[in-house]
Amino acid sequence: MGFKQEIQRRRTFGIVSHPDAGKTTLTEKLLLFGGAIRVAGAVKNNKIKKGATSDFMEIERQRGISVATSVMGFEYNGYKVNILDTPGHQDFQEDTFRTLTAVDSVIIVIDAAKGVEPQTEKLMNVCRMRKTPVIVFVNKLDRPAQDSFTLMDEIEKQLKIKVRPLSWPINSGPDFKGVYSIFNKSLNLFNPSIQEIEKGIHFEDIASPELENHIKDDAQVLREELELVEGVYQEFEIGEYLKGELAPVFFGSALYNFGVQELLDAFVKIAPTPQPSQTEERVITPDENKFSGFIFKIHANIDPNHRSRIAFVKVCSGRFERNKVYKHVRSGKTVRISSPTTFMASQKEIVEEAFPGDIVGLPDTGNFIIGDTVTDGENIHFKGLPSFSPELFRYIENADPMKSKQLAKGIDQLMDEGVAQLFTSQFNGRKIIGTVGQLQFEVIQYRLEHEYGAKCRFESIQMHKACWIECEDTSELKEFKSRKHQKMATDKRGRDVFMADSAFILQMAQDEFKNVKFHFTSEF
Ligand code: G4P
Repeated sequence: MGFKQEIQRRRTFGIVSHPDAGKTTLTEKLLLFGGAIRVAGAVKNNKIKKGATSDFMEIERQRGISVATSVMGFEYNGYKVNILDTPGHQDFQEDTFRTLTAVDSVIIVIDAAKGVEPQTEKLMNVCRMRKTPVIVFVNKLDRPAQDSFTLMDEIEKQLKIKVRPLSWPINSGPDFKGVYSIFNKSLNLFNPSIQEIEKGIHFEDIASPELENHIKDDAQVLREELELVEGVYQEFEIGEYLKGELAPVFFGSALYNFGVQELLDAFVKIAPTPQPSQTEERVITPDENKFSGFIFKIHANIDPNHRSRIAFVKVCSGRFERNKVYKHVRSGKTVRISSPTTFMASQKEIVEEAFPGDIVGLPDTGNFIIGDTVTDGENIHFKGLPSFSPELFRYIENADPMKSKQLAKGIDQLMDEGVAQLFTSQFNGRKIIGTVGQLQFEVIQYRLEHEYGAKCRFESIQMHKACWIECEDTSELKEFKSRKHQKMATDKRGRDVFMADSAFILQMAQDEFKNVKFHFTSEF
């Protein structure tokens, strides 16, 4: 197969949802279709169960398992599908945000009874920011659901995106009869007693009395609702979807494997092929001959005795080849990867080559950090791996003075992996760790001790947000920094950050310094 065809057949995407909406279940069913797993339940373990707080063994175990499922590639009808796993636990949201920089599209799973939940909104904000095309899968129709039109309105309003149903449910809960696929013009009947895939009945003309034979009294309601759908929503326009302006919506029940195949069939047809990527220097298109890629995730501690890590690189252009010499742009050094891995059919295996859209695992001993670019020689830097303002802050202190080197190294490497963010106070030099969840503090403390032999202590600190600041007026910037000296810090990349104690203080600063821009993500 030619290089261009290899690119054209790739679909790299992520599935996101509010915890419990059914992301894991849907992922698993997609893998079943792709033949990547044989039995249900294989992916199930890949999540830190809700409510887990300090179950370190669990975290460790999960981390072991999730290497294999970080990227799940499979072949389906001539397409190469790559699913990038995103952590379900909200304390690992930042990981999810970063993974979203490596996908070309997203499927958002929504619980049909609960509708749009807070984490769905946050994740959608990231997709919107990056103009990532999204498909919505409304799940759990086998349970009593909200009215479908109400749900459509809610999705449109809360996710701030136009929607277009491409399938439509016939009731829900105990009365759930199935879905009519607007996309394929077929009727798919739900049978809760079997978990096999029912083949859809082709049904071009829903006015036909034949419909009554299948769904009896519900036929007329379906006709009326479909008429309303056609009246209310404009035709599905693939261009709008690809621009991230319109979300096609599908309905189903992941648990019963229902509506999943329609979703997958439509997905491979409409979802984008690997897209161009923006670097600081120029736009890189996938079909360029020379290899380039960036590291969006580092997975540590595969073997605790060897401090081994895998750096996940997204191939953005060209053909990646094993044993070829590439350039690690940040250090300027060359690297030769003798055992790169891919993740097919949930097996990790050594690969000889990979194409744009693919994810390759590079064994790493601490040379790579998140956001690094690897190329065939060109000096480029991929953009688009923002850090978000953390929500929780603590001072980190050394609890074992004999181990200060180990502590410094441990903190440094954990931050490179993106476990949390580190800020150094410009006032007193103290180190502040910022995270999005409580769990990370525990993970840091545990890993520092077990992997680096260092002990740390956290001290609470009154802090609301970290804002990256920018100001064209140099004298105003100087004035701001001197007035706020006690609250200024430096991030890992040496940039100025204002650590606001409270929303009120932040507002005051914004009112007073009109020309200073306060950013809540590190990329602006
Ligand atoms: P998540 O990854 O988004 O957090 O959700 P997950 O797939 O783990 O699903 C959360 C719960 O919802 C699971 O039940 C799962 O079985 C159930 N579920 C997922 N899809 C459907 C569906 O289409 N219909 C129904 N009725 N339930 C669904 P659980 O009891 O929390 O876990 P388990 O004991 O079944 O593993």
